[in-house]
Amino acid sequence: MSEKVEALDRVWVLVCKGDSCSQKGNPEKIRVALKQAARELPAKRVKVSYVSCLGMCGEGPNVLVCKGGVAFKRCGGADGGEIIAEVRRDLERTDS
Ligand code: FES
Repeated sequence: MSEKVEALDRVWVLVCKGDSCSQKGNPEKIRVALKQAARELPAKRVKVSYVSCLGMCGEGPNVLVCKGGVAFKRCGGADGGEIIAEVRRDLERTDS
């Protein structure tokens, strides 16, 4: 991995703030409740953030919890190929 790429050991709690989820619920209220509930967890390892859509609009409001991942830092358009190659490797790992 290059210095621009880092494997992460964090848990992401992603609150959807997209139009559909916002119409059906209150993402702000959900995020506040999650941050409150997570306050005793190690802040460096748990990150509660908003996302604009999780692709599950009909079932919202939605929250996605995911662990780990690979961060690409200081990205530009030229990094798209490397990022998608990582996505492809990840798909191949989970498909096998
Ligand atoms: S708007 Fe929330 S999943 Fe699409």
